[in-house]
Amino acid sequence: MHLKINLFISSIIINVRFCSAGAGACSLTPGIVYVREGEIVALSCDKPSDGDPVTLWKKDSEQKTYAQSNMSAAQQRQMGIVVHKNWLVILNTSVNHQGNYTCHSQSLFTLMVYSSYEDKYDYPKNCYKDQSCTLSCPEANIPSGGILNITDLTWYKDSRPLKPYFQRVQEEDAGIYTCNRSYLYSGQTYNITFVVPLTIKTEIPPIYATITSPRNNQVFSVELGTTVVIDCVAESDSSEDLLFWMRGQSFVEENSTFPVFYNETHDKQQMKASLVIGKVSQEDLSTNYTCKLDSDNQPSISVTIFLTQKAYFSYLNLIVCVVSIVVAMTVTIAVYSKFQKEIKLFLRDTLSCYGTSSDVKSYDAFLMCYKCDTDEGLHEADRTLLESTLEEKFGYSLCLCERDVLPGEAAAEAVLACIEQSRTVILVPTSQYPGPESSLLSAIHAALVEKQTRLIFINTKNTETQKSGSFPEALQLLSDMAECVTWKGRPPSSSFWKKLRLHLPAPQRTKQTCLFLRENHNDSIC
Ligand SMILES: *[C@@H]1O[C@H](CO)[C@@H](O)[C@H](O)[C@H]1NC(C)=O
Ligand SMILES: *[C@@H]1O[C@H](CO)[C@@H](O)[C@H](O)[C@H]1NC(C)=O
Ligand SMILES: *[C@@H]1O[C@H](CO)[C@@H](O)[C@H](O)[C@H]1NC(C)=O
Ligand SMILES: *[C@@H]1O[C@H](CO)[C@@H](O)[C@H](O)[C@H]1NC(C)=O
Ligand SMILES: *[C@@H]1O[C@H](CO)[C@@H](O)[C@H](O)[C@H]1NC(C)=O
Ligand SMILES: *[C@@H]1O[C@H](CO)[C@@H](O)[C@H](O)[C@H]1NC(C)=O
Ligand SMILES: *[C@@H]1O[C@H](CO)[C@@H](O)[C@H](O)[C@H]1NC(C)=O
Ligand SMILES: *[C@@H]1O[C@H](CO)[C@@H](O)[C@H](O)[C@H]1NC(C)=O
Ligand SMILES: *[C@@H]1O[C@H](CO)[C@@H](O)[C@H](O)[C@H]1NC(C)=O
Repeated sequence: MHLKINLFISSIIINVRFCSAGAGACSLTPGIVYVREGEIVALSCDKPSDGDPVTLWKKDSEQKTYAQSNMSAAQQRQMGIVVHKNWLVILNTSVNHQGNYTCHSQSLFTLMVYSSYEDKYDYPKNCYKDQSCTLSCPEANIPSGGILNITDLTWYKDSRPLKPYFQRVQEEDAGIYTCNRSYLYSGQTYNITFVVPLTIKTEIPPIYATITSPRNNQVFSVELGTTVVIDCVAESDSSEDLLFWMRGQSFVEENSTFPVFYNETHDKQQMKASLVIGKVSQEDLSTNYTCKLDSDNQPSISVTIFLTQKAYFSYLNLIVCVVSIVVAMTVTIAVYSKFQKEIKLFLRDTLSCYGTSSDVKSYDAFLMCYKCDTDEGLHEADRTLLESTLEEKFGYSLCLCERDVLPGEAAAEAVLACIEQSRTVILVPTSQYPGPESSLLSAIHAALVEKQTRLIFINTKNTETQKSGSFPEALQLLSDMAECVTWKGRPPSSSFWKKLRLHLPAPQRTKQTCLFLRENHNDSIC
């Protein structure tokens, strides 16, 4: 009879490969059941097919009723048996209990009671030198948790208790091990003992079975509270091999009613043990899970995996994210508003070097003077400074009143030609020059409107206030359509130049002059 069964004792589950020796462990299904004299044994009947709630036990050929599940407690105590549901438990077996038991006619158990040790009742185990080795106590098919409570599982070698686990087993560890399971009934302890002779093999046979997944020390990121399934897959063609999971040092149950369990499937070539963690807890994250392949024909193989918490999306993260973005945007906007002009000019200075003129005009700006009544206009020196700074420092090509338009010489045509050839007109207040006639101003106005030429009006502090009142009407019209920049101080501050340059288009210049101008950039006027 070959059975593979799992059992659980307290918090431990032990896997048993076979009940080949057929001792008390194998009373699960009808057959021969061996039990040591003085020990506990249990027979379990299949559920009655006709739904009869009473299980009837008959013994031997006379087929007289031995026990039935509705027996009184006193009767049971007197007989030293426990009948519970479909179970018949003999607490303290004696030779008198030996015999054939039947329940529901078709199930036959032959109970064999022995008193002297024979090695046919053993559960031999092989381990390999220097390898890890786990002894497993065979299943005792005793119902636990209801009428009988398991109290203990102890391992002994030469009457000394020990742990059934060796990290690196040595030859001197070989020997006869026994495990005692103790059950409590009515304040009395009843035992069942198994003998496990351990043989240590020094020659390690070739590994024929391996765990193919997961990898050893593999880390699985999981979310707390979710169900996690981890498949352990092994290549093995031996149906006797066992693949199971351990949680730390204890065995994981195969019973799916537990919060952590595994289920196992076995194909011809492949075994699979799926670890199922119903609800991942914090404790699971700090626990090692080990998948183990146990074989009598080779050292056991195990892989340990770890669980870590998945970095999950939280509202805190979201808030931090949003706040960071808002702060970054605010700072950017603040910086941009503060240094708007600088940024624009920087970009222009950087990029315009490579720009080429898209029109046919010869000048960037036409500097035209207009007459101020008093000496509030720009002085000669200021005007020269304005011209030289625009030309030499910023690289504008200028059409100048006194240089390019000779006074008296067909002045009106020359001025209009100059406007034609310039991208911008800058009106400069001056006291020295008479400035254009009122009629010319009207013509200029018309030309500017027609050509849509940009007009920049330079004020001084005083012209600004007087402008509205004392300007000739034509000049007033011009000033209304112009961008105004106020000349303050002597020499003017850098903000004047910035403002002026912002109103001017980028100077059209070649790469070469651009580089040349860059080199001279440090002689700041302001
Ligand atoms: C037990 O049940 C059987 C029938 O199933 C009945 O004949 C018998 O009297 C019952 N015994 C007791 C003690 O209840
Ligand atoms: C089991 O029965 C034997 C006699 O058959 C007796 O000596 C022993 O004390 C009993 N053990 C228990 C635990 O009842
Ligand atoms: C039990 O049944 C077997 C046959 O199944 C028989 O050989 C044996 O003698 C029986 N034992 C008893 C005590 O009746
Ligand atoms: C078994 O344990 C449960 C509680 O765990 C208890 O209620 C019950 O009485 C115990 N049974 C025996 C036979 O000791
Ligand atoms: C059962 O085992 C316990 C220790 O596990 C021991 O104290 C007790 O005496 C044993 N009982 C019998 C009946 O052998
Ligand atoms: C184990 O159980 C047997 C009886 O089942 C008992 O004789 C023996 O003393 C127990 N071992 C220990 C160490 O208690
Ligand atoms: C699984 O465990 C529960 C109690 O936790 C038990 O009632 C049930 O019978 C067990 N199932 C199996 C197949 O062992
Ligand atoms: C293992 O159990 C889980 C949950 O009960 C189930 O979803 C899965 O199909 C089972 N796997 C196998 C191989 O039986
Ligand atoms: C988990 O395993 C590592 C080594 O693989 C070990 O150091 C650690 O103590 C183990 N932790 C637990 C809780 O078993």
